[in-house]
Amino acid sequence: MSTPAFDALKIDDLCPTPSATPIREEFARAVRSGLSKPQRELPSIYLYDEVGTALFEAITKLPEYGLTRADERLLRRYAHQILEHLPPSLIVAELGSGSGRKTRWLLEALTRRQALVYFPIDISASALTKCRQEFADMGSVSLVGLEASYLEGLHAAVSTRRPGQTFLVLFLGSTVGNFERPAADKFLREVRRCLSPGDALLLGCDLEKPVESLFLAYDDPLGVTAAFNLNLLARINRELQGDFVLEQFSHQIRYDKRERRVEMHIRSERRQSVSIRASELTCTFREGETIWTEACHKFCLEEISEMAQHTGFVCRAQWVDHEWPFAESLWIAV
Ligand SMILES: C[S@@+](CC[C@H](N)C(=O)[O-])C[C@H]1O[C@@H](n2cnc3c(N)ncnc32)[C@H](O)[C@@H]1O
Repeated sequence: MSTPAFDALKIDDLCPTPSATPIREEFARAVRSGLSKPQRELPSIYLYDEVGTALFEAITKLPEYGLTRADERLLRRYAHQILEHLPPSLIVAELGSGSGRKTRWLLEALTRRQALVYFPIDISASALTKCRQEFADMGSVSLVGLEASYLEGLHAAVSTRRPGQTFLVLFLGSTVGNFERPAADKFLREVRRCLSPGDALLLGCDLEKPVESLFLAYDDPLGVTAAFNLNLLARINRELQGDFVLEQFSHQIRYDKRERRVEMHIRSERRQSVSIRASELTCTFREGETIWTEACHKFCLEEISEMAQHTGFVCRAQWVDHEWPFAESLWIAV
């Protein structure tokens, strides 16, 4: 087995037509547009700067946040079963890889049968740095980190396909739950459009569970999730010359029963004005008014199989963790 060199590329290295828009300008525009809506909102993608990425890693280790451990238990227990459904010569691409810690179980099982190219795709440079560290001791994995949005990264990864290769796309951690349900369908259809028949998608989805455990998971007593959420305002202060006074805002969790989702908000504790120079924006918040920062939709098993059908896949198999209800579903592109 050869030992491919470790590698890390920016999207431009694989994609000859990089986006012309500097990321800071996009951020400034997104903040202006989101904070101007009647229900103010900020896109969750901006939670993951260097500080946010480190805080998310800490969240995954909290006793109250069972999601990551459930995802990891399934990958550890069933990596071999999952791979039995797939042909040889796999290339692995992971959407929103984060540190890739859980993915290790799958890649270890896979490298027993082949040398491997692995494309972790993440908008966060520091997540990719952690991911490279995670796999530094696995000589049979050639890692090509793509600092890009999900679809940009996936397009770049599949553009390297050689005849006879099959792509396995990982979308773990119930990150699909961050999309509104119709937007998730649309996104998964886009993923399908990047793939060829026979390619696979392994989708990790958090299942419905009692609201009390969700509240604890997303509002832990240590306040790590609160810090993760409020860091978004700190990031706006740092990068866009905002003047949010963090002490005057708080972390708030809601559960929307009809939509079956946890919502993460930032609540203004008093009436106050905030200016964000790079977004050319001044907002006046009422006391109790919130900024919606993230949605985490919860799923049932049947709807995951239905989602596969709506989006150009067939659900080949599912593995369920009953300790923290969570499902790994293997979809095959038709
Ligand atoms: C909820 S975390 C999940 C991380 C890891 N997959 C896990 O299961 O623990 C989401 C990850 O996706 C990345 N991310 C969020 N939105 C993204 C986007 N639009 N494009 C690419 N990466 C994104 C974040 O930086 C973060 O590392």
